[in-house]
Amino acid sequence: MSAPSSLLAAKFSQQQIIEFLSGKHDEWLFDQAKYVTQQVFNNQVYIRGIVEFSNHCRNNCHYCGLRSGNRQVSRYRLTDVEILDAVSDIAQLGIGTVVLQSGDDWQYSAEKIAKLIEKIKQDFDIAITLSLGDRKHHELKLWRAAGADRYLLKMESFNQSLFNQCRPHSDFNERLARLKYIQSLGYQTGSGVITDLPGMTDEILAADIITLSNMALDMLACGPFIAHPQTPFAQHANGDVLRSHRVSAILRLMNPGANIPATSSLAVLQPNARELALMRGCNVIMPSFTPAGVYHNYNIYPGKNAATKQVTQRVASIFEQIQHHGLQPNLSRGDSKRNHYVS
Ligand code: 5AD
Ligand code: SF4
Repeated sequence: MSAPSSLLAAKFSQQQIIEFLSGKHDEWLFDQAKYVTQQVFNNQVYIRGIVEFSNHCRNNCHYCGLRSGNRQVSRYRLTDVEILDAVSDIAQLGIGTVVLQSGDDWQYSAEKIAKLIEKIKQDFDIAITLSLGDRKHHELKLWRAAGADRYLLKMESFNQSLFNQCRPHSDFNERLARLKYIQSLGYQTGSGVITDLPGMTDEILAADIITLSNMALDMLACGPFIAHPQTPFAQHANGDVLRSHRVSAILRLMNPGANIPATSSLAVLQPNARELALMRGCNVIMPSFTPAGVYHNYNIYPGKNAATKQVTQRVASIFEQIQHHGLQPNLSRGDSKRNHYVS
């Protein structure tokens, strides 16, 4: 397959995407995704610091190690001071975005989170991305007013029946409406899928890619499923790295200006898979700055936060790998360029 390279958003049909997922056009697909990513981001890879401040979760997703039904997790909550210390570590390295992530932990009241956002904005010149799950509309509004810049709410799949099979007690329509509400509040908004979730067919994944691309999102995430032994999906096969790369490449062509992270689940499955994803559509890496004492307990899937090195060493080795591929780590806020490239 060949076509002139273009920076306009590609429009692929479900059938075309299924063709891409088959792997028959990998050379073309990866070449194009690399070209578009280079053109839009000028070989820069945005670095975000993530602070996973609580691994408590009221949800019970079948794929996730932090599910409430898993009694073998050592649960933790960071204090405000601990969170601010981690943000300070990120800012001291000159990194321009902090991602605050937790399970659906309602012990952190809306007001407490709003105060934290205000304090971070007072003390540091840094963009704030929230990834706090299914919070109420008025809470999302309060945090936006407090200064939060971005919000990530992954659907994992936009197929309602697959969603229901994977996320018991989570309401598909409510979550989708929440995602649209977040966008309406002026957050740079992100969503995404887990590729190869048990039960996910090519048809479902292709439809998910189209839905994600039609939503005009600023951030798009895809990463392979990894079976966690303490979940109902323990016996299912891990996802495929190449397939996740195909998805990031397709998403890039359909959303040239969106930020697409190379997820840590890739690195768990294959040592160089995360860096390779940067040549196949991805343009963001998010090292964890969760404090060493609890870092290992944010065990969403096996291998997550398993590194034994200190954060500064981990960041240094990420930078080296980025440079090894002829790319440059970029510490700026790295706002979405979605509006620059629409068809
Ligand atoms: N495999 C891969 N990704 C997972 N996530 C949760 N569980 C798994 C798993 N078993 C993803 C979810 C969540 C992100 C932090 O990790 O998409 O949003
Ligand atoms: Fe909770 Fe998120 Fe894990 Fe679901 S995926 S159990 S909402 S932390």
